[in-house]
Amino acid sequence: MAISFANATIFSKPSLFLQRSTLAFCLRFSSISTSSAAVQSHAHKKWRHPVASSLVELGGLKISREEIVKDDPTNNVPDSIFSKLGMQLHRRDQHPLGILKNAIYDYFDTNYPTKFDKFDNLCPIVSVKANFDDVLVPADHVSRSYNDTYYVDSQTVLRCHTSAHQAELLSEGHTHFLVTGDVYRRDSIDSTHYPVFHQMEGVRVFTPADWESSGTDATSYAAEDLKKCLEGLARHLFGGVEMRWIDTYFPFTSPSFELEIFFQEKWLEVLGCGVMEQEILKRSGRMDNVAWAFGLGLERLAMVLFDIPDIRLFWTMDERFTSQFSKGQLGVKFKPFSKYPPCYKDMSFWISDSFTENNLCEVVRGIAGDLVEEVKLIDNFTNKKGMTSHCYRIAYRSMERSLTDEEINDLQWKVREQVESKLKVVLR
Ligand code: DAH
Repeated sequence: MAISFANATIFSKPSLFLQRSTLAFCLRFSSISTSSAAVQSHAHKKWRHPVASSLVELGGLKISREEIVKDDPTNNVPDSIFSKLGMQLHRRDQHPLGILKNAIYDYFDTNYPTKFDKFDNLCPIVSVKANFDDVLVPADHVSRSYNDTYYVDSQTVLRCHTSAHQAELLSEGHTHFLVTGDVYRRDSIDSTHYPVFHQMEGVRVFTPADWESSGTDATSYAAEDLKKCLEGLARHLFGGVEMRWIDTYFPFTSPSFELEIFFQEKWLEVLGCGVMEQEILKRSGRMDNVAWAFGLGLERLAMVLFDIPDIRLFWTMDERFTSQFSKGQLGVKFKPFSKYPPCYKDMSFWISDSFTENNLCEVVRGIAGDLVEEVKLIDNFTNKKGMTSHCYRIAYRSMERSLTDEEINDLQWKVREQVESKLKVVLR
């Protein structure tokens, strides 16, 4: 689920005394840090008796649940998402995502020794400016909506892509870098979509000396170098796999491309890339340079490499999953443990104007967590009065055990209740 700007659905502590300004620290490159509601509310809190609250370690700092999950219309972060912050699966050397990250590092270290600076612990709470404005995402782009992105407050989001760090790192003077991190998107539910996933961003800046002797213009030079680099990476990771380049659109690159890989009978989009928009470089003080950039989805690649059939598996603590992977072992094929039977529940309702599938999925996930495997629209019609009915089929299935009828009925009952009360639809 790379942000598919292409088809217009956007489509990713050590020091307690620093806690006073943790969010401000996360947002240090944004212009809003001191005015952020989150930071202001923190200032109030410091006089209160320190109550035990869940703290999460982000970018080397501790942040409390109350700063992230708030009963406020400008906040749409549920507890199920808060619980994923700070998990940092990509920093675990024995986890498929960590193994993959390290294998990509190896490729860059071998081909560009000591060139690329690596970041894998940048705070996932970023300003709207960093996440969208700085990478030229248009003001009316759908990816900015509350339906697609998790907002901490009106000026602060959980990054929806690692591109959120491009501008800040360029401004700091980095010219070759890789940023790996967890990214957050409200989305539908199926075997390849999960509201938290991991991306790696790569950026390489060229100076006139690089392209002047090549006989080609700067943009073609960068585009060619980019494709060569990523094809080499794909070969390093996969050996042989069917892949194809697709011309596409991203607000931050021109030209822009997507790389797709053939997996489970389908073409799977695994990365987006292109030649960085000149404006981004200019604003970072690099007028005379060109750069390429890419953003790849680690889960997508890991599913193909390790034969992992369901994206929820990345989050399981089940030893039958975790014990199959070890540090440095790329591409060991996952042996599925017995699949427990799914249970399907259908639910029909008249939708309201404000109904969205992402909101439905969030309600279902909020109740059933990782027991929900898929939420699928199976029927859709509009009657003569102009009322539209949707029928969704929810597949419940645990990867760890058999679910009882009783517990599924209980879940489904709660889902029906909350769908009706929170989504303003009328059950049929
Ligand atoms: N940020 C894009 C996404 O999440 C991926 C991407 C595309 C990153 C092109 C880039 C890029 O750096 O140049 O889908």
